Amino acid sequence: MSLLDSIDKNNVPAHVAIIMDGNGRWAQSQGRERIFGHLNGVEAVRASLKAATACGVKHLTLYAFSTENWNRPKDEVEALMTLLVHTIVGELDELDKNEVKLTMIGDFESLPDNCREELRKGMQRTAHHTRINLILALSYSSRREITEAVRKIVASGISAEKIHPDLISQNLGTAGIPDPGLLIRTSGEIRISNFLLWQIAYAELYFTETLWPDFGEEDFFAAIMDYQGRERRFGLTSAQISPSEGNILNETKNTGGLL
Ligand code: IPE
Ligand code: IPE
Ligand code: MG
Repeated sequence: MSLLDSIDKNNVPAHVAIIMDGNGRWAQSQGRERIFGHLNGVEAVRASLKAATACGVKHLTLYAFSTENWNRPKDEVEALMTLLVHTIVGELDELDKNEVKLTMIGDFESLPDNCREELRKGMQRTAHHTRINLILALSYSSRREITEAVRKIVASGISAEKIHPDLISQNLGTAGIPDPGLLIRTSGEIRISNFLLWQIAYAELYFTETLWPDFGEEDFFAAIMDYQGRERRFGLTSAQISPSEGNILNETKNTGGLL
């Protein structure tokens, strides 16, 4: 039996974001080079995409390469970029067949030429799909994303009093995509590492010791189950958000425009 059967399909986060971490440690624990872990991480990407699609998640954002990751040893960076190109080329038919729309956030221009080319092709070919949106965070920095949003807003000449949280959201790479309801990080690290800082204001955070290459479909479902066991209060009291407890304030329910 799969945990999928126990998931309430009416309470699945529309957007799940994952910090895919632990590839290097996974490889090193087997006496292998770090890149071996990255190679095996691709299988975990397939598994999470399959699991997310199966339970009805509409947007899946995967943190694949941070701005800070450019500072890793040259060999590792090159191997990661090569792997990215091979994975996009190798998976495109499958993505298309499964009606996955491929998009990206991050600094597209900083990626190597062949990487940009294959990404562009993949995004164009799958642009019409609506089953699930796979968002790769590549050469991504949340602080830079926010900084660029501020730059665009200032350059538009808008007056200060018209600046509103929604306007900031609309100028981020994730414009038009709901904020993640759930953020997963593998490998036991309890930090955000410059990922979606604005967008995760009210996300449920789920940390697991499992290293990314070992993260399978059932692990993804377990994270969704954990999410479903939480009470999302958005600043309200418990009584306000559970009508079964006979609360009189239910009509005042207000998520403050955060969702
Ligand atoms: C995550 O695994 C993949 C990337 C950051 C590209 P790591 O490479 O960070 O693996 P660890 O954290 O060193 O084990
Ligand atoms: C975060 O992982 C970036 C990605 C998963 C792509 P890192 O391994 O780079 O993060 P830190 O350095 O441990 O914070
Ligand atoms: Mg890491």
